[in-house]
Amino acid sequence: EKGTYPHYMLKEIDEQPAVMRKIIQAYQNDAGELAIDSNILEAINASDRLYIIAAGTSYHAGLVGKEYFEKIAKKPVEVHISSEFGYNMPILSEKPLFIFISQSGETADSRQVLVKIKEMGHKALTVTNVQGSTLSREADFTLLLHAGPEIAVASTKAYVAQIAVLAVAATVAAKHAGHDVDFDLIQELGIVANAVQAMVDSKEEIEAIAKDFLETTRNAFFIGRNVDFFVSLEGALKLKEISYIQAEGFAGGELKHGTIALIEDGTPVFALVTQKPVALNIRGNVKEVVARGAKPCIIAMEGMEEDGDTLVLPKVHSLLTPLVSVIPLQLISYYAALHRDCDVDKPRNLAKSVTVE
Ligand code: F6R
Repeated sequence: EKGTYPHYMLKEIDEQPAVMRKIIQAYQNDAGELAIDSNILEAINASDRLYIIAAGTSYHAGLVGKEYFEKIAKKPVEVHISSEFGYNMPILSEKPLFIFISQSGETADSRQVLVKIKEMGHKALTVTNVQGSTLSREADFTLLLHAGPEIAVASTKAYVAQIAVLAVAATVAAKHAGHDVDFDLIQELGIVANAVQAMVDSKEEIEAIAKDFLETTRNAFFIGRNVDFFVSLEGALKLKEISYIQAEGFAGGELKHGTIALIEDGTPVFALVTQKPVALNIRGNVKEVVARGAKPCIIAMEGMEEDGDTLVLPKVHSLLTPLVSVIPLQLISYYAALHRDCDVDKPRNLAKSVTVE
């Protein structure tokens, strides 16, 4: 099934432009406008706060989803790790709507929260790749990812699909609630699909980066601000789980509050620069770690790049940059793991769906 690909992970990374196009198509109505089930729209707009519940990579997608619902649909959002939320519930708003994000739809930590909030009488929407999965069946509503089966343990195409579907839901909900939306998401996601294609076509360049920065290192840091911070968390998780290199994602400004003590001569620091309002700040953070000997890999969006940056990402809408910036991080992890002879598709100690709490 993986055809000529050496690993499912590489195949699934390569499928991401097609997944973007599939989502644009699957969520269009006959009039060529983005649309989702009106019951879901009503549930979103009747709620006073969305609670996104997820684990791992899906949690990282949820952090980006919060940006979309808050910035585009003006809806307050909390994002929670399912294993924490289940046993330490915060004070809920009066009319909460729960959104479960789960590639597999089978994650026990998330299901345990779903069971509890249903008992409390709340409504739930599941965003999943697997139709008929437990979380889909037990929720009131489902939005499908349309990413096709994801086989590699490390999630790649499901992450971009989750973010794209959340962007669609937030945008359609915004219009439904009468908010102005000043961009055409179909067009912007089309631009994203092309940018993702350009990134997956840059494998040689990205493999060289993995070699240069990660061949012998014991640890690595990923930094960013705003949505770049959320993608940093995902980049670090990907690298940890398949290459076993210790990696941490940090908000750029937070490193100096302790973690900068770990920077030594040659420590790789991957920095994302896709957000104009904080571009100078993150570049300042890079200078701080370079002054302590770090080896910086700066990944900047076109229009924000400077001499000496390692990789330039094609320009996309500022809210949609995670869909593009994550691609080189996925590929860097893939090649780092490959060069270290790790079992890319089946990393040690991990299962594709975690059905125990
Ligand atoms: C990381 C990864 C995991 C999953 C997590 C949640 O690459 O795959 O972190 O994201 O176990 O799984 P789902 O999305 O199936 O609930």
